[in-house]
Parts: sequence; structure tokens; C-alpha cells
Amino acid sequence: MAKRILITGGCGFVGSNIAIKLAEKYPDYSIIALDNLKRRGSELNLSNLAKHKVVFIHGDIRNKEDLQQVGAFDLLIDAAAEPSVLSGSNGSMDYLINTNLVGTINCLQLAAEYSAEFIFLSTSRVYPIGHLNKIQLLQNENRFEVSSDPQPNGFSWEGVSEEFPLEGARSAYGATKLMSELMLQEYHNLFDIKMVINRCGVISGPLQMGKVDQGVIVLWMARHFWKKQLSYIGYGGLGKQVRDVLHINDLFELIDLQMHNMDQINGQTFNVGGGRKANTSLKELTLLCQEVTGNKIPIKPVLENRYADVPYYLTDNTKIKSTTGWQPKSSMPRIVEDIFEWMKKNEKILKPIFDING
Ligand SMILES: NC(=O)c1ccc[n+]([C@@H]2O[C@H](COP(=O)([O-])OP(=O)(O)OC[C@H]3O[C@@H](n4cnc5c(N)ncnc54)[C@H](O)[C@@H]3O)[C@@H](O)[C@H]2O)c1
Repeated sequence: MAKRILITGGCGFVGSNIAIKLAEKYPDYSIIALDNLKRRGSELNLSNLAKHKVVFIHGDIRNKEDLQQVGAFDLLIDAAAEPSVLSGSNGSMDYLINTNLVGTINCLQLAAEYSAEFIFLSTSRVYPIGHLNKIQLLQNENRFEVSSDPQPNGFSWEGVSEEFPLEGARSAYGATKLMSELMLQEYHNLFDIKMVINRCGVISGPLQMGKVDQGVIVLWMARHFWKKQLSYIGYGGLGKQVRDVLHINDLFELIDLQMHNMDQINGQTFNVGGGRKANTSLKELTLLCQEVTGNKIPIKPVLENRYADVPYYLTDNTKIKSTTGWQPKSSMPRIVEDIFEWMKKNEKILKPIFDING
């Protein structure tokens, strides 16, 4: 059956990758990318989307009239957001709340009108900072690692599972995503919307316009590529903090599976990430970027921790794997090499986005 799919944030990193890959794999589907082009660099994806016959609508999810332009659709993939964990920390919450919460509810309402299915890109940031800081760690030469001490509920060597506690502060960004999850559950219950929630760890890969406050893997590669400087921020300025990283290709495989097996996963919430397959400390990432680019750059230690930062996050993929069979395939070197190849191929158009100091 031919599908009409609306991807909000369809010119952003996740949205444009999913749109292009869907268009390539299912040429009879009709794909619409709605985006307000707020993220710098999203405009660079427009020509590629057009080449793949993805229809672009310049619209804002905060504005119901913009959403009404779309017409009926079968599935909404929600990838429009202010995705920085630092957003709101300067006291100005309006854009964050109006996009990540109110905008998502506008999208839900629209999906309910058309009885469309809903795939929500949530975040590991729904888990509270206080509990994440209780994870017992030890320090190796290049990274923090899980110690053999007793660990908080919902945490094991595999990482953070869906059983991890949810009480406590998590960042304003994480709060808007969790509130959206709650509304999704209400729409699911009240209006029978078929939906799935994916709580993603760090996602990375080509087409990500990484910046200091969001998209750290691409930022790291870009600074090496264009020989600029970086900082190890917090935790003594040693670069030992660890994140798991999900290749956008692996996320696409998951979304493809979910949209074609919605009855199997309907109403459920999954933690989704690179997990044990792909994770890195900043220091290890530096070594990888040096190896791939051949460049060594100055990295300044900044001792003070950053707002809402945590020393360690790894996704436990057990639930998504046992439910669907999906698991991440890409390793860290593969992710870093794919980003490098993308930068090399598009050096000229990407330079103004990435070639900056700071
Ligand atoms: N990238 C990650 O590491 C990561 C991790 C976990 C979850 N997520 C989630 O995945 C989704 C996609 O993130 P991303 O990395 O592609 O971010 P992105 O910034 O690259 O893309 C978001 C897109 O949404 C657009 N947008 C912002 N506000 C809008 C509005 N009001 N109306 C319409 N469009 C708007 C932006 O212009 C941008 O193109 C987000 O919901 C994010 O919270 C991302």
C-alpha cells in the first residue's frame, strides 16, 4: 500500500536522513518534509530532498495553520525540535516549550484527525540527572567505565533500561520531551492513535550540523577536519565522559521496521542507542578523529561541569532487541569515517557552517 508520510523537522539531521532513505527504498511512497529551517544548515538539505522527490513545506509546528496545509497522511514521524539540552538554561523557555511540547501536541492533534500513526523521537534525557549521577563508575586511562559496585535500579553493564527511575530534574529539554511522551500516551488511550516512543541516546552521522551545544560527534570531527580548537568541558577537563552513539543508518532501519510492524510495538516505549556496540569518551573520540583526519588540534581543559551534564550514558537495548530483533550494527570507527567522508565530499558548502573558532 502506498503511504503518505509527514516528517516534521524533515530538513534537520534525523528528518532529512529518514526522508531521503525512505524515498530511496519506497519510491511509491509520498514523503513530505515540513520544517521552519530554524536550525542553521537545514537549508543545505533542501536540494537533496528535492532530488529525491520529497515535498518540502516551509512550516512551523507551533502554528496549526501551517500543519493544516499538509492534508491527510498515514504516518507522522516527529523529528522537529529544539534538540539542545542547554536550551532554556539561559531562562528563555518559550521556543523550547512552544516547539517541543505545544508543537508536538499540535502534531498529535493532526494525526488524530487523520487516524494516522505516530513515531516519536524522544531522548535519553528524560532520565533524571540525579539518578544518572548515582551510576557507580571507575576511571580508566581514557574513559569512565561502570564499576562492580551495586548500581541504581534500571542500570546494568549494558546501560540504562526503561526501568530506570523518572523522578527528579532532567533539564528543561528532557522535561519537554517527557511531557510530550505523556501526551502521546493520552492520545493513544483516548483516540486509539497507533504510536511508538523511541528514547534515543546520542545519534550521529552525515547531514548533522553539529555545534557546541548539540551534535558533539560531528562537532568533534569538524574541528579536526578544519583544524580548529575544542574544549573538554567538566569532570576535571580530562575528556573521560562517555556516551553511546547511534548511527543514523541504524535508526533508519529501526524506523523502517517499526512503521511496517506497528501492531507489534503499538503504545510502547523503547530505549534505543549505540549501547555497547558503539560508545566513546571524548578522549577516545579525539584519538579516532586524529586517526581519520591525520590532524591534531589544541583541546583546552575546562574544569567546571556544564548544566545538565552527566559523566556516563549508555543505552540498554535489551527491550527493543527482544521485541523486534533490531540492534545497532555500526561501530564508532564506522560512524566517524562516514562523517569524515561526508565532510570531504561537501567541504565547500559545509565550510561556512563548521569553519568557526570557539
Ligand atoms: N541528534 C541527537 O543526538 C538526538 C538524540 C535524541 C533525540 N533526538 C531527537 O530527534 C529529533 C530530531 O533531532 P535532530 O538531531 O534531527 O535535530 P535537528 O536540529 O538537526 O533537526 C530538527 C529540525 O526541526 C526544525 N525545527 C525546529 N523547530 C521547529 C518548529 N517549531 N517547526 C518546524 N520545524 C522546526 C529545525 O529547523 C531542524 O531542521 C528531535 O526530536 C530530537 O529531540 C535527537
